[in-house]
Amino acid sequence: MLGPPRRHRPDAPAPAGVGELAEPAVMPRAALGVPPGSVPGQAGPPPDEATRPRPIPEEFERPSSARVYDYLLGGAAHGAVDRRLGDELTRTSGDVVALVRENRAFLRRAVRFLLAAGIDQFLDLGSGVPTMGNVHEVIARSRSTARVAYTDVDSIAATHGQALLAAAPTASYSTVDVTDVEAVLTAPGVTDLLDLRRPVGLLAFSVLQHVRGDAAGLVGRYLARLVPGSALAVSHFTADDGGAARNVERLTADYAHSAPRARTRDEVARIVAGTDLVEPGLTWAGEWRPEAGRPATVTAPRGHWAAVGFLR
Ligand SMILES: C[S@@+](CC[C@H](N)C(=O)[O-])C[C@H]1O[C@@H](n2cnc3c(N)ncnc32)[C@H](O)[C@@H]1O
Repeated sequence: MLGPPRRHRPDAPAPAGVGELAEPAVMPRAALGVPPGSVPGQAGPPPDEATRPRPIPEEFERPSSARVYDYLLGGAAHGAVDRRLGDELTRTSGDVVALVRENRAFLRRAVRFLLAAGIDQFLDLGSGVPTMGNVHEVIARSRSTARVAYTDVDSIAATHGQALLAAAPTASYSTVDVTDVEAVLTAPGVTDLLDLRRPVGLLAFSVLQHVRGDAAGLVGRYLARLVPGSALAVSHFTADDGGAARNVERLTADYAHSAPRARTRDEVARIVAGTDLVEPGLTWAGEWRPEAGRPATVTAPRGHWAAVGFLR
């Protein structure tokens, strides 16, 4: 079901900074179960065990957050089932493209802020596909040598990320579940790259809504493993501004991994309570330190609460 890479809204201008460094992303053939060198429709020698095409995993029969998100951002790591849901979201739930772009724009501003504050290593939870203005691109654009360990539960995001970052000594991508703190912190992609005895920027952009249970407790367990001076940046899907958030929850209930659940401002405040928030505190993503000379990228309805804080 995973079709050829297709760009969403090819005529739509990408927001400044989004996708400027994006490689011409191509779905890795291995991820599609296609043996290297094979040409569809052409007979070849019988495949041996190592190259025998494998059935497409069940995961790909359902849309996933990482792939739908990639589609809405204009990336290329998605399949037909993701495009169908992305189109339905766009048709029925307001300007979700603006909403995901606003979240990515917050990601860029937050990472730039943390780089300027001296954070030089990042642990990114639920990273999604690492293109379209993701963390290592912001780091490179800032001419920094900071490191980023990406993590996500989605195998296409991970396969894509690992292929894309294979030659990058300052970035890694691990397939791991955010709810398993120990597994995340001991993943080779994390331990090889990050030194937890030094401050770390813990990034949780639009991922904690996929944690059904105690998200504040989960973040607390991560923060307990980091040294003072570390930072936390969070954005979180919400229904507080009304709009179509409940419709998004309904349409995405069948996601391959966990479906998103909107949280209120108070609930998100509890998630970031273990840090000292920098100005302007917990606010709408589009209103968090908009760039000088550029208007705040505020969508209506506004879809994410956002904050950045430092560990005491
Ligand atoms: C809405 S996307 C956000 C991607 C990226 N962080 C951003 O803000 O642009 C949510 C991401 O969380 C990931 N995710 C969902 N459940 C997860 C879990 N249990 N563990 C790790 N990642 C998860 C999804 O695969 C997806 O890539």
